[in-house]
Amino acid sequence: MAEKENYFEFILPSKVEYGPGTIKTLPEELLRNDFKRVVFVVTPGRNRSGMLDGILAVLAEEGSEATVFDRVIENPDLASVADCVQFLRAFTPDAVVGVGGGSALDTAKAAAVCYSNGTDSVLDLLNGDGGSRKIKKKSLPAIMVPTTAGSGTEVNYWAVITNKAEKEKLSVGAPAMSPHMAIVDPELTLSLPPKVTLYTGIDALTHAIESYLSKTSNWLSDMFSFGAITLIMGSLRRAVDDGANLVARCNMALASMLAGVAMENVGLGLIHAMSHQVSGFYDTPHGLANALLLPEVLAFNRPGAKEKIKSLDRVARGKGGFIRWIEKLYREYDLWIKGVEIKGEDIRIMAVKAADNVNVRTNPVVAGVADIEKIYQECFKIV
Ligand SMILES: [Fe+2]
Repeated sequence: MAEKENYFEFILPSKVEYGPGTIKTLPEELLRNDFKRVVFVVTPGRNRSGMLDGILAVLAEEGSEATVFDRVIENPDLASVADCVQFLRAFTPDAVVGVGGGSALDTAKAAAVCYSNGTDSVLDLLNGDGGSRKIKKKSLPAIMVPTTAGSGTEVNYWAVITNKAEKEKLSVGAPAMSPHMAIVDPELTLSLPPKVTLYTGIDALTHAIESYLSKTSNWLSDMFSFGAITLIMGSLRRAVDDGANLVARCNMALASMLAGVAMENVGLGLIHAMSHQVSGFYDTPHGLANALLLPEVLAFNRPGAKEKIKSLDRVARGKGGFIRWIEKLYREYDLWIKGVEIKGEDIRIMAVKAADNVNVRTNPVVAGVADIEKIYQECFKIV
C-alpha cells in the first residue's frame, strides 16, 4: 500500500439487495419507503412478458398506485427519455423502478433526474465539457432492477443516452443521480441468451479493466475492479455455455456491480471513449464494440500500466496469460477482430470525438487523435 496515494474520495452505492429471489422484496421495499405512486420503466417486451404482474398486484392490494411506462428502446435517445419524463410528469410518482438491461435502467435514471430538474431534455443538464453540473436537484428516487449482468448502471450514477442528431453517446451523471437502491437478483439473468450474456459480460470485464488501469484508480477501487476481473474470468464462459447455471450467473451479477462501483469512482478509459463513437455511428452493440477494441487498447496502454497488466496475466495463470485467454474466448464465440465494418470517411470524426470524450481523461496513456485513428484501423474492417 505504500506506493498508493494517501488521499482519495470514494462513493459507495446506496442500498443493494443481492441474491437469488430478491426481486420478491421489491413491493416490501417500496411500501417501507412510503413510495405509494410508482412508475415502472421497461421495454415493451418485458411488459408483455408478465414479469411485473405479480408485483403490481401486491402493490394494488396494499393501496399503492403503480403504472408502467413500456416505451424503453435499445440505446435510449434524447426523445425516448423525454417521452418517459412526460409520462412521469403526468403521473407525478414518488419513485421510478427501472427493470431490465442497461437501456431500461439508464432511461429510468435519466428521466428521473430530468423530471426533478424540470426539463424534458438531458442536454439541459450538460455543460458541454463532459460534465453534468447543471443538475441542481436530487433525482426522483430511482430503484434499479437489472436483468442483465454487465452495465453496472444499477449501482452508479451514470446514464448513457444517445444524441441521434450528433451520432453521439452522451454520458450524463452526478451524485444527485445516484440510484435510491438496487435489487440485484441473479435469477433474473437465467434466461438471457448466450450472445447477450457474452456481450454484457465483456462490457463488465471492460469496466473492470478500464477502472483498474485508470489514472485515478486507488486502493479501494482496485479491490472492486480486481474482484470483478477475477469473477468474470472464472464465470463468463460458464454463464454463456450454461445459462441456467445459477453460480455462474451469481458471479457475473456480482462482477457487474463491483465494476459499476469502481467505474463511478475512478472512470473508464480509451475503450469506452472509442466504442461509444462506434455505437453512436453504427448502432453496434456496446459489448461487441468494446470486445473488438480491448486487445489493441490494452497493448497501447501497456507502457503506462505494466504492473497492473502483469497482474491480469496472473489471474489468467494456467490459461497462457490474459491476451491468450481473450483470444481463445473470441475464437470460441466467433468474435473476430476486424469482424465489424466502419467507414473510412468516418474514422477521423470518430477519433476527434473519442479524443474529446470524458472517458479518455482517465486512460493511463495519453491518446491523441492520430493514435485513436490507428487503433480504429487495427480493430475494425474499413470500408
Ligand atoms: Fe460499458
